[in-house]
Amino acid sequence: MAGNKTFTMIKPDAVENGHIGAILEQITASGFRIVALKLTQMTKNDAEEFYAIHKERPFFGELVEFMTRGPIVAAILEKDNAVEDFRTLIGATNPEEAADGTIRKKYAKSIGENAVHGSDSDENAQIEGAFHFAGREMF
Ligand code: TYD
Repeated sequence: MAGNKTFTMIKPDAVENGHIGAILEQITASGFRIVALKLTQMTKNDAEEFYAIHKERPFFGELVEFMTRGPIVAAILEKDNAVEDFRTLIGATNPEEAADGTIRKKYAKSIGENAVHGSDSDENAQIEGAFHFAGREMF
């Protein structure tokens, strides 16, 4: 059975461009409840650990550089079928391929700077949420 939580980040590009409010509005209007929320900035070590699965990929250095260049908004979200429904809401990794109305289609400029993160499995949602939040920060 699919889990009911996912983890997201509003990435540095979308924060810099002033889209925090609009993106959170679209998320909550789509039926997700915010369980945990913070403005924070990842260190190089944080980003290297968070994206460790991609460490051999050619874009890894740029990804770490991008994700650490400014603040992000981290959040845990709750909804039935959360992981899959949130991936649908954000759209394809490459905004040029993302469906109309999706968050990446509306706010992302490129595959590298693509406005939002969404966990890709229930297991990763749990790991990523715990990476950013202590138990007492989840409601
Ligand atoms: P990935 O996990 O494949 O995508 P998603 O975020 O949709 O789950 O990749 C993680 C991030 O790595 C992605 O959001 C942006 C960056 N990335 C690139 O910069 N270039 C690429 O070719 C890919 C595949 C990802």
